Amino acid sequence: MFSPVLILLSSFLCHAIVAGRSKRFTCPLTGMWPINTLKCTPRVCPFAGILENGAVRYTTFEYPNMISFACNTGFYLNGTSSSQCTEEGKWSPELPVCAAITCPPPPVPKFATLHVHKPSVGNNSLYRDTAVFECLPKYAMFGNNTITCTAHGNWTELPECREVKCPFPTRPDNGFVNYPAKQVLTYKDKATYGCHDTYNLDGPGEVECTKMGNWSAQPSCKASCKLSVKKATVLYQGERVKLQEKFKDGMKHGEKVSFFCKNKEKKCSYTEEAQCIDGTIEIPKCFKEHSSLAFWKTDASDVKPC
Ligand SMILES: *[C@@H]1O[C@H](CO)[C@@H](O)[C@H](O)[C@H]1NC(C)=O
Ligand SMILES: *[C@@H]1O[C@H](CO)[C@@H](O)[C@H](O)[C@H]1NC(C)=O
Ligand SMILES: *[C@@H]1O[C@H](CO)[C@@H](O)[C@H](O)[C@H]1NC(C)=O
Ligand SMILES: *[C@@H]1O[C@H](CO)[C@@H](O)[C@H](O)[C@H]1NC(C)=O
Ligand SMILES: *[C@@H]1O[C@H](CO)[C@@H](O)[C@H](O)[C@H]1NC(C)=O
Repeated sequence: MFSPVLILLSSFLCHAIVAGRSKRFTCPLTGMWPINTLKCTPRVCPFAGILENGAVRYTTFEYPNMISFACNTGFYLNGTSSSQCTEEGKWSPELPVCAAITCPPPPVPKFATLHVHKPSVGNNSLYRDTAVFECLPKYAMFGNNTITCTAHGNWTELPECREVKCPFPTRPDNGFVNYPAKQVLTYKDKATYGCHDTYNLDGPGEVECTKMGNWSAQPSCKASCKLSVKKATVLYQGERVKLQEKFKDGMKHGEKVSFFCKNKEKKCSYTEEAQCIDGTIEIPKCFKEHSSLAFWKTDASDVKPC
């Protein structure tokens, strides 16, 4: 008794291994062998449906089919991209593997230090690993401080560290500026500003030398306003306040108040805003200062709003 294995060569040609020896037969159109002990079955190759970190495209693993391979991002095919099941029931060429893409240790830009870096594979990094740089003091970073190992096995673009100098800040009128006593002022150096007596700073009290080589702001000193109005109830930051009490030392540059005015026809009140700009405040024309002699008159701030 023998159990022959037949391999389908084409739809009609069969290859039978009979008692260990090959013979060629032509398969009849019926697809059935006249001898019922012979049957055409294709040679099957070992299962190859799983590729770690990749994928296999296949229909069946039978002779003479081809299967093809692809790796996930971050991996490359070490070996063939497609393989065929041979007459002998073997894959040819041999099945590939997906190997991880690595980046070599990152280059360090001039005037920079590697701040964060953990190699994953020996001295190398894996796809998506990152490295972070810092510039030496006085140097400013241009570009991204973080680089990433790409799927091409190289790093994303390196940043640059450049020395940045700022000019000496100028003293504001009616004020002063302090800065480090150095030959040159460089990136991240700070300067502080202040104003004399009745002047107020317009801008931040502290500025910094920026990457652009200029200061983050140019504060100036602005005069405060003396009020010509002796008594008035006004709106200041949404609240009713007595002008003469709240601003007895004058109003600072930039501050705003709303004065109450009367609409005589409609017998109601509305407000108009006034702002202190560098020593000057324009009192709204509609505002009438309440005279303490005219006690029978109602102050505009006590009249119902329009
Ligand atoms: C790639 O395949 C060859 C041959 O199979 C093997 O020697 C080598 O170690 C493989 N490389 C990697 C990175 O897997
Ligand atoms: C890593 O780099 C160091 C210094 O260049 C070297 O001595 C060492 O052999 C490297 N290690 C590996 C695993 O490549
Ligand atoms: C810098 O690169 C990282 C990672 O590559 C990214 O997530 C980040 O958005 C980048 N930052 C800027 C400001 O481009
Ligand atoms: C990384 O390699 C890819 C493919 O070779 C290339 O297109 C890209 O410009 C390289 N990136 C850098 C930052 O060198
Ligand atoms: C600093 O210089 C840059 C570029 O010249 C400019 O865009 C920026 O407005 C300047 N900043 C200040 C606060 O003057």
